[in-house]
Amino acid sequence: MYRSNTCGELRLSDLNKEVTLSGWVSRIRKMGGMTFIDLRDRYGITQLSFNQEVNQHLCEQANSLGREWVIQVTGTVQERSSKNPRIPTGEIEIIVNKLTVLNASKTPPFTIETDSDGGDELRMKYRYLDLRRDVVRQNLELRHKMALETRHYLDERKFLEVETPVLIGSTPEGARDFIVPSRMNPGQFYALPQSPQLFKQLLMVAGFDRYFQIVKCFRDEDLRADRQPEFTQIDCEMSFVEQDDVLNTFEGLTKHLFKTIKGIDLPPFPRMSYADAMKLYGSDKPDTRFGMTFVELKELTMGREFKVFDSAEYVGAIRVPGCASYTRRQLDELTDFVKRPQIGAQGLIYLRYNEDGTLKSSVDKFYSEEDLRKWAERCDAVPGDLILVLAGETEKTRKQLSELRLEMGSRLGLRDKGRFECLWVVDFPLLEKDEELDRFFAAYDLVINGVEIGGGSIRIHDSQLQSKMFSVLGFTEERAQEQFGFLMNAFRYGAPPHGGIAFGLDRFVSIFAGLESIRDTIAFPKNTAGRDVMIDAPSSVEEEQLDELGIQLKPRGGTH
Ligand code: AMO
Repeated sequence: MYRSNTCGELRLSDLNKEVTLSGWVSRIRKMGGMTFIDLRDRYGITQLSFNQEVNQHLCEQANSLGREWVIQVTGTVQERSSKNPRIPTGEIEIIVNKLTVLNASKTPPFTIETDSDGGDELRMKYRYLDLRRDVVRQNLELRHKMALETRHYLDERKFLEVETPVLIGSTPEGARDFIVPSRMNPGQFYALPQSPQLFKQLLMVAGFDRYFQIVKCFRDEDLRADRQPEFTQIDCEMSFVEQDDVLNTFEGLTKHLFKTIKGIDLPPFPRMSYADAMKLYGSDKPDTRFGMTFVELKELTMGREFKVFDSAEYVGAIRVPGCASYTRRQLDELTDFVKRPQIGAQGLIYLRYNEDGTLKSSVDKFYSEEDLRKWAERCDAVPGDLILVLAGETEKTRKQLSELRLEMGSRLGLRDKGRFECLWVVDFPLLEKDEELDRFFAAYDLVINGVEIGGGSIRIHDSQLQSKMFSVLGFTEERAQEQFGFLMNAFRYGAPPHGGIAFGLDRFVSIFAGLESIRDTIAFPKNTAGRDVMIDAPSSVEEEQLDELGIQLKPRGGTH
């Protein structure tokens, strides 16, 4: 028997019990004639105690151990004289009478502690050591619970989990495909699925009625904090449903997860049209934890010889509460922020609504106090507020103002990770200016705290309408037949009305865990160059392997 208990479970109520524990040496401390070891496993840390006066040999053995050695000890549970209230086992320790080394360890390249001293690259290279840290393991435990509760919820509602293939054909979707050469079919390639979209629709044709799958998807796109080349979807599809049925079912799932895992009861999720989201927040995934919605000032600013506004298609403002006292330097900082190439604004105009009721702007040369008062009124400003204005082409300026709004939200501490605001963004335009098709199509996204958690749509199940859509999307009949022939064909055999949605599990977990990046919700993630630095992939392969596949590499740096 390796252990009678784990390192996380012994309490004062276990006093005087003889126990056996196995785990990793986390820390060794020598104090006078005493040696203390923190023994760690997945469940916690238990203090082991060795007294030189009682058993010199055992104490010497303890002193000879190193960090991360795997040991087994037997001993008696005792009350500690100096207790540690920060850990659940902090009131007891084990007086060890037997110690066995199960395996030695090299000195780890970084210490396995909550605040690791390993840089990112080192942590990823030794990910198996990084995963020994509480913080990382807790994220994976959370992920497990979320997946489990998702299965409970969907199973109770008659969803069937069905596996769909990973080696499929290349289809033109949003991102680039990862492709896999076929040895048995030289010169031909599989592609890894960007999502199981086509298969889940075929399952509806097959009459499965309610499908789900917690499934890996693959997209060869540039990586960001919220993107990995392989990520996981909670993918779903339902038959005989309208938009409301899908939204209610998955609002229910989201609430179920918040309730069972975080103990949070969420109110009904508001719904906002895509058009309103763009108008009010300049984003299709607005962070609704705070206000600062956009106010349009264009017609109030016209005809005062201020060229920037006169020539702009759009003049938009946000009202920042309580920031009229911003210094010149702080305002310059904001100007620099919006002028950064990633944001690309030409400049920033401000209006201070001072506490004494006076108005002061960076464009006083052009606008009278009366003009400015109208801006302030339009913004519902009160003394003490700061109004920030951007102008230019509508779509671009809204995006810039959206970045500025988020920046101000962060500066004012309004983006609290412990608060959750869910929002359905609905009525996404399918294609600009094709109202006929838009009538048959409803697309929606679930947004939480400004992160796109999921998206889906009610599908076009009529094969004629489907082929019309392909043609509007720019596919020739032959190409559509080549790429989607099987789908269009299947739709001729009684496709039920259907629709669905897919949530990004990694993003969902990162929101629950309050993480900035999805990386630490994944056991073995890729770095920003798409590499696994631990196993060193991707890598080159043997020439024979390539020969077998009929693949010839072009010499590097050769002519195109
Ligand atoms: P979509 O492309 O919107 O929809 O993807 C659904 C959700 O998956 C997550 N996601 C990602 N997460 C991490 N890394 C990535 N590279 C990545 N790409 C997407 C996002 C996103 O909201 N088949 C449709 C769904 C449907 O219509 O039913 C689809 O894949 O959270």
